[in-house]
Amino acid sequence: MTTVRDKNIDEEAASLRAAMVRELRDLEAITADSVAGAVAAVPRHLFAVGEPLKAAYAANQALVIKRDEDGTALSSLSATHIQAVMLEQAGIEPGMRVLEVGSGGYNAALIAELVGKEGASISVDIDAEIVERARKCLDAAGYEQVQVVRADAVAGVPELAPFDRIIVTAGAWDIPSAWLDQLSERGRIVVPLRMRGLTRSIAFDRAGGGSEEELVSDSYRLCGFVPMQGAGAYTERLIHVTDGLALRVDDQKQDFDTDALAAAVRSARLEVWSGAAFDLPDELELFLATNTPEMVMLHGSKDLVDQGLLALSVTRGVPALVSGGSFAYRTKRANEETGGFESGVLAHGPDAEQVAARYAELLRRWASDHQRRGAARISYRPMPAGTAEPSQGVVAKRLGAVAFSWS
Ligand SMILES: C[S@@+](CC[C@H](N)C(=O)[O-])C[C@H]1O[C@@H](n2cnc3c(N)ncnc32)[C@H](O)[C@@H]1O
Repeated sequence: MTTVRDKNIDEEAASLRAAMVRELRDLEAITADSVAGAVAAVPRHLFAVGEPLKAAYAANQALVIKRDEDGTALSSLSATHIQAVMLEQAGIEPGMRVLEVGSGGYNAALIAELVGKEGASISVDIDAEIVERARKCLDAAGYEQVQVVRADAVAGVPELAPFDRIIVTAGAWDIPSAWLDQLSERGRIVVPLRMRGLTRSIAFDRAGGGSEEELVSDSYRLCGFVPMQGAGAYTERLIHVTDGLALRVDDQKQDFDTDALAAAVRSARLEVWSGAAFDLPDELELFLATNTPEMVMLHGSKDLVDQGLLALSVTRGVPALVSGGSFAYRTKRANEETGGFESGVLAHGPDAEQVAARYAELLRRWASDHQRRGAARISYRPMPAGTAEPSQGVVAKRLGAVAFSWS
């Protein structure tokens, strides 16, 4: 029975929802009418139980559903902004069969709106509690047709395959072969893939219009997700250099001379300015981090910054070129003439000049040739487990290699 209070809540929710759709259109997270229609239709607050309506309809707010004992988020209702972006990347059409990896209920309901009566929205989660919660929320919101399955998605959901779209909503480090096996010929996988410490939501299609094993993409977007659990979980190495300084590294085999690097950080610092504009930091970061396997993420403490040993950029992590006992990383300074910024390099160690020169050359190359959104073309080539090798523009994964080319 709908009470007067429920009616008020429904009306307020509908008005907040309409405002959220307008905001997402303004932000260009939504460009397709189909996605706008889905976001306008699904009552998100019924998937954000116990949260204020304003939080449920804040376009950029993720809501944590479950944390582990250390307080790390294991499951969240993703922000509508990134959900809309990924649905746009997926290009879902009526009648499609879509698998969502990671369940909150809400995104699966959006998918149900997009595929319509003839299609199928299937959601899989590794966590029984999350599956139960998603099921309850979907039923309460009237999406009984959505199937929610409990399983480790590393094996996909073979009993309900094939899928025209697989949308992954947990941070993945690799692409399990089951996803490729269960993808229809002209299918697409949208996956937040972590590469050398950076995550991008990448929309992959099979090369050759579906005839080849290789996946190709010309759409990638900045995003952040809770990490994949289960057999596909991957922990990056955190290499301690000295108090307040660490390297975050993807590659399990790469060796570092940590004693020499610890000495280098306390040695004189070389500063080199590139003469190139510093802009679009997320695109630049992707270019730098994936350029060479010698590029790893450098993380430094505020303490070392305050001591004048490192620049502020290291506190969030910055791609650093490490060669023997020397390293270089990027910085920036205001450019009075343009009103923007100029990129530069800070380097330490016996080969500071060489690493700084190599880094500055990359900064200049990016600024002159690739400084725009979406300049990377990303591909994924499945390979026998453990055989992929990192090289220039190639990030090695366990089950394949991610290759970058820049236009
Ligand atoms: C960000 S949440 C999903 C949000 C959801 N799609 C929504 O509608 O907002 C990520 C989910 O991925 C799940 N997950 C993590 N690893 C998984 C795995 N290997 N297989 C299936 N689900 C997994 C987590 O339990 C968590 O619930």
